[in-house]
Amino acid sequence: MPGPTADLFADDALQQPAGRERIGDQSCVLRGYALPWIDRLLPELRRVLAQSPFRQMVTPGGFTMSAALSSCGDLGWTTDATGYRYSPVDPRSQQPWPSMPEAMRQLAVKAAADAGFTQYSPDACLINRYIPGAKMSLHQDKNERRYSEPVVSVSLGLPAIFLFGGHERSDKPQKVSLFHGDVVVWGGVDRLRFHGVMPIKDGMHPIMGPQRINLTFRTAG
Ligand code: SIN
Ligand code: FE2
Repeated sequence: MPGPTADLFADDALQQPAGRERIGDQSCVLRGYALPWIDRLLPELRRVLAQSPFRQMVTPGGFTMSAALSSCGDLGWTTDATGYRYSPVDPRSQQPWPSMPEAMRQLAVKAAADAGFTQYSPDACLINRYIPGAKMSLHQDKNERRYSEPVVSVSLGLPAIFLFGGHERSDKPQKVSLFHGDVVVWGGVDRLRFHGVMPIKDGMHPIMGPQRINLTFRTAG
């Protein structure tokens, strides 16, 4: 007679390799993937933010985004009254964005490969800072020139509930809890799925303090 363990594992398709949770045909969460990189990432992140500090941007519709943004890499994502776009310069300083630090780039490339995307050369990393209460409305990442390469998203600090929707804004999103060090990869048939972040709950992260920082890598140019 099969015991409870046999029942639990009856459906092989439900089992995920250790640390990897599938959230779509070509998308997954790599749990804790960035943790071994944190000591290299944080000093790099600090240097980037000293050069291009967080700022709150305004959408073309006139709303101030609750998340504060910065970028590094050849291109940075910006928004203002005239629209969303990638720009080679930080509009605040009119200087090029800080270059993408090596550990950040390597982490993104390795995570993409482990998620099945062996061709990945991100040239843009958007950095979002959420203080408690800040959120990101459902949207598609579609200002990039090519969709053949995935989006890689690294979560740091306070936990978040990530909304992973479908191809229509009205598709009911999955709710995926993301914690410090988790990495999400979505590409291929999932590349243009709607996604967002629910308002961040109050809290204090032992390393990052009272905030969540998210890095999203894309191939934009
Ligand atoms: C984004 O879609 O730009 C950010 C996603 C996140 O903060 O997890
Ligand atoms: Fe996005």
